Amino acid sequence: MKITVDEKQQVFLLHTENTTYGMAVVDGRFLEHLYYGGRLEDTDIRYLLRTDEAPLVPSQNKRETGAFLDCAPMEYPETGMGDYRESALCVRSIAGHRASELAYAGYEVMEGKPKLPGLPATWGSQADSSTLKIFLKDQLLGLKVTLLYSVFAGSDAVVRSVLAENEGKEPVYIEKILSACLDMDDQDFQVMGLFGSWARERHIQRMPLGYGRQNISSFKGESSHQEHPFMALVTPETTQETGRVYAMNFVYSGNFLAQAEKNQFDSVRMLMGIHPEGFCWKLEPGAQFTAPEVVMVYSGEGLGKMTRTFHDLYRTHLIRSPYLHQKRPILINNWEATYFDFDETKLLDIAREAAELGIEMLVMDDGWFGKRSSDDSSLGDWFVNEEKLKGGLNDLVEKVKALGLKFGIWIEPEMISPDSELYRKHPDWAIQIPGRDITQSRAQYVLDLSRDEVVDGVYQMIADVLRSADISYVKWDMNRQLTTMGSYALPADRQGELFHRYMLGVYRMQERLITDFPDILLENCSGGGARFDAGMLYYSPQIWCSDDTDAIERLEIQEGTALVYPVSAMGAHVSVCPNHAMGRTTPFETRGDVALLGTFGYELDITKLSPQEKELVKEQVARYHQYNDLIREGDYYRLGSVRENGIYDSWMIVDKDKSRALLFYVQVRRRVNVKSRFVRLKGLDPEKNYAAKECRFAGESGTASEWIPADKTVYSGRALMEAGMRLASAYGDFRSRLVEFTQE
Ligand code: DGJ
Repeated sequence: MKITVDEKQQVFLLHTENTTYGMAVVDGRFLEHLYYGGRLEDTDIRYLLRTDEAPLVPSQNKRETGAFLDCAPMEYPETGMGDYRESALCVRSIAGHRASELAYAGYEVMEGKPKLPGLPATWGSQADSSTLKIFLKDQLLGLKVTLLYSVFAGSDAVVRSVLAENEGKEPVYIEKILSACLDMDDQDFQVMGLFGSWARERHIQRMPLGYGRQNISSFKGESSHQEHPFMALVTPETTQETGRVYAMNFVYSGNFLAQAEKNQFDSVRMLMGIHPEGFCWKLEPGAQFTAPEVVMVYSGEGLGKMTRTFHDLYRTHLIRSPYLHQKRPILINNWEATYFDFDETKLLDIAREAAELGIEMLVMDDGWFGKRSSDDSSLGDWFVNEEKLKGGLNDLVEKVKALGLKFGIWIEPEMISPDSELYRKHPDWAIQIPGRDITQSRAQYVLDLSRDEVVDGVYQMIADVLRSADISYVKWDMNRQLTTMGSYALPADRQGELFHRYMLGVYRMQERLITDFPDILLENCSGGGARFDAGMLYYSPQIWCSDDTDAIERLEIQEGTALVYPVSAMGAHVSVCPNHAMGRTTPFETRGDVALLGTFGYELDITKLSPQEKELVKEQVARYHQYNDLIREGDYYRLGSVRENGIYDSWMIVDKDKSRALLFYVQVRRRVNVKSRFVRLKGLDPEKNYAAKECRFAGESGTASEWIPADKTVYSGRALMEAGMRLASAYGDFRSRLVEFTQE
């Protein structure tokens, strides 16, 4: 990593291991984007700006300053002065005018990485990160904007954020402040994003980028099930190993906009930041506003390199949890086992059986508090439902511990039920517009977490629960989107701050929780996977991926999630069949193998499993212990996708030192009368030999002879990567196999 500034040429370059990001000052005032791509050592690249082409810079062509702005590659474009592409910044003065003219005003380079106040962000030390700050100023408004860029040793990511400060004498209203902009020539780009719905999150979609604007966004108050704060522009030939990829991922969990725009000159502008819909922030003189961070990754070696860059950055510079590099306890969650219909006896029955099979923690899900026996009451009443848990929480926890299990608990702190003691006491704590009915969703309202007293009040209740018993794990759920946006605590000209202030309140509460209870393992969740994002990873090392636990549906969900996020963060459980969401029946082994690519646990009534299934649980538990270190810490490679081939899905994890690897293969559809398939492995050392071992244990279906070619058990890494591993067709759909490779 290196930051180079050529003061004479006014060129700024950020170098990562394999990439360079550059910008330059033009005409003494315009900050223009210069270059993003493979690493360049020289600074003499101002020719890339094409400033000798019409329309010339304003100092040479005073007639056409507007045309210049609409055509130059701007580093941080603004509304109002002639750049008609989407702007990154829109500021309204107190007189009501929407325009700014930011001019270059200096720079600073520092070792390390500054924190972003109240926001999740990547972190780095003075030894392993450097930051470039570029200062821009608008004289009329007295507005100072600082663009921050950081790079990290050993990483190919560049992270960006923006700080706005009002140095003027009057307030200004920020109507839009995006965090990153990237202007470049079109390369016949395609847009990649992650799309879905409840129980179908983060499916990969790739489509051509045409003229006009294509965006991916949410203004639901959360990153959402439907669209995701990730966008990549890829050249048409892009595969896992080839092609140019320009990716952005937002370290934020609320409203977002990711947009690609192709214009009249075949220029492309890629943007990411807080969605301007419903956003307006009043900046008083002397006040500051920080726009959340965007992580940018350029890969000249296809999607696989991009993925591993995100994974490594998040595992070394984003997730802070002490559990990050630890094997997490194998949990059993009672949600799909009982839903709301449980009591102490039922939970203890599950715990007893689970303990015998090697499971390490019982998680009590929704329904333990207030008078909750369905989803229509009691959110906000964070005290134990003594009808269900007659001896109280501590009594239950001690009994579970006596069985040899840890104990975890579900909470949904951001919500309030209209039918709750809390709502009867504090009706104004709900987000609402006076005079309008509050929209209900799952029969609940959203708490106004922009208010400190609400954050404090709810946090105290939750903290009391956590102090009342020996609780090792918390599942923090969030089961609806935000509507009827209004806060009793904000004046009229600050109501547009509510979405973002809400997120800051959530972050404040989570920060408090992990600070006060550093030993608790926190898992975020949002009605499945609606808030699986980089913002949440700053607080919790794992996030529930989806309420669809069907192993085959999970293939696409986990492929899309792992495109960006480390597999160590993916909440994945084995559940019962027919699957509750899908009605599909898959082999127990396949469910276990798919859940291994994540945090691993169970979500079923274990007391009802057959003796044969219980044996399989024991074997899966053993396999988790055997392979989790490798899966959690290794490099992830995508080998095949059922989304593309319709038949099989395959991925592998390779140890950082390439001495060990694990191949996952799921035959989704059986085909009759076909030859065996060669799957080319990736990431191995071509010079090493590897012994292959089938990871099935005795008693599991699928015999070694069915799976492994009997003629060979030691392969050269080169043969496995160039020619492939031979995989025979198995009898039946949804069959999975797992092969371990160990350096000879
Ligand atoms: C949604 C979560 O995704 C589920 O796992 C479960 O916790 C329910 N909420 C409980 O209401």
